[in-house]
Amino acid sequence: MIIAIDGPAAAGKGTLSRRLAAEFFLAHLDTGLLYRAVAARVISLDLDPLDEKAVSGVARNIGKIKAAEGELREEKVGLVASVIATQKEVRLALLKYQREFSKAPPGSALGAILDGRDVGSVVLPAADVKIFVTASQEARAERRYRELLGRGVPSIRSRVLQEIRERDERDCRRKLSPLVPSEDALLLDTTEMDADSAFEAAKAFVVQVSGAR
Ligand code: DC
Repeated sequence: MIIAIDGPAAAGKGTLSRRLAAEFFLAHLDTGLLYRAVAARVISLDLDPLDEKAVSGVARNIGKIKAAEGELREEKVGLVASVIATQKEVRLALLKYQREFSKAPPGSALGAILDGRDVGSVVLPAADVKIFVTASQEARAERRYRELLGRGVPSIRSRVLQEIRERDERDCRRKLSPLVPSEDALLLDTTEMDADSAFEAAKAFVVQVSGAR
C-alpha cells in the first residue's frame, strides 16, 4: 500500500504520517527532510542557494548526506529548503530518490507512506490513498510556536506566523510542483482538530479506500 500525505508547513503531516505508518506497517519518508538535508549541506558548504548548478550537484548526492534531524529542523534550514525546492534539477534528483523508496521500502514494511508538498500530485500520482492535511495559518503558527518552546528554542509568536506565511507563499506560488491538493485527495482541515481526531479520520479514510484493516 502506498499513501501520499501532503500539506503546508506545520500542518501536522509528520505526526499523522508516523502514526499511520505504525498502524498499517508502512515505511515512512518525510520528503521535506530531503529538501532540508540539501539545504543544510548548501549552508555548511557556504554555497549560494540560488546557484542552481552547485545546489543540484548536492541534491544528486542525497543518498550520501548525513545530518542530524535536530539540525535539519532549524527554521533557517527550512527557509533555505523552500528556496532550493523551486529549482528543477533539485526536484528531479529528489523525485528519483522518493520513487525508489516507494518501490522498495526498507525493512519488512507492507508499503510506504511519504509526506510532503507534491507526493500525491507529482511524485506518486498513482498512490492508493491521498490525504491533504491543512489548518489555518494561525493554528499552524501556534502549534509550531509551542513545539519550538517545548524544544527550548526561544521564539517570538508573531515571527513564527510571519515565517509560516512566507513559506506558504513560496510553496504555493512556485512554478514547479506548487502545493495543490490532488482532486482525489481527502481534505483534512485540522484547524479545530487535535492529533488523535486527525489520526482517526485519516485511518478511517485509509480503511475505506484501500480495504485495509
Ligand atoms: O515539510 P517541510 O517544512 O520540512 O519542507 C521544507 C521545504 O521543502 C518546504 O518549504 C518545501 C520543500 N518541499 C517540497 O518542495 N516538496 C516536498 N515534497 C517536501 C518539501
